[in-house]
Amino acid sequence: MADDWLVQGPTDPHEVADHYDDWAARYDADLATWSYRAPVAVAERVRAHHPDAGTLLDAGCGTGLVGRALRASGFGGRIVGLDVSQASLRVAERAGVYDELRPADLQQPLDVADDSVDALVCVGVMTYLPDVDAVWREFARVVRPGGLVVVTQREDLWQPRDCPGVVDRLAADGVWTPIDVSGPAAYLPEAEGELGGLGCYYVTARVGSA
Ligand SMILES: C[S@@+](CC[C@H](N)C(=O)[O-])C[C@H]1O[C@@H](n2cnc3c(N)ncnc32)[C@H](O)[C@@H]1O
Repeated sequence: MADDWLVQGPTDPHEVADHYDDWAARYDADLATWSYRAPVAVAERVRAHHPDAGTLLDAGCGTGLVGRALRASGFGGRIVGLDVSQASLRVAERAGVYDELRPADLQQPLDVADDSVDALVCVGVMTYLPDVDAVWREFARVVRPGGLVVVTQREDLWQPRDCPGVVDRLAADGVWTPIDVSGPAAYLPEAEGELGGLGCYYVTARVGSA
């Protein structure tokens, strides 16, 4: 696994898909070695802020770590996973915690109806999605008013991609109401080198105006 590839963070969906296809079989073991805690932290936020959510979209589900964390936290609703890496989706399928898994490029409009899910989570994926404003608006579009969006963003991309500005702009536009913006927290604390020093922000927002 080339750690420098992760630090560099390419955004071409074909390149990203190839990389995650190659990594899929070893991804869960590597992330466990690096003490990746974001899936559990996001599951906790979903359970705390939308305990009754019946349908959840996991945008960039990868091999299914977030779905597994949600089930372990007691989430009993429907979980739909989307990802550009087919090999990762096959690993997620074997986990047996998703009700539906579909290939999708999150840099394109989602093939998901407006206001159709109670919650959307996107964990460890924004590295690869440079147009933060467009992506977060698209996430909010598919979530019912009053529903929840929880996304993570790496600390080193938080300011360069103007994530604080996007959080505020979406609030000003009545797209969402932030509940909590926290970070930076340790992201991959046991990884070696630059990767191990990365922090992560968590954005939790309720869709619609307050
Ligand atoms: C670090 S992994 C995170 C996977 C999972 N959410 C987790 O927390 O373990 C990043 C994931 O984003 C997916 N991804 C990156 N760019 C994407 C895009 N444009 N559309 C859909 N998925 C994408 C990758 O295929 C990969 O599965």
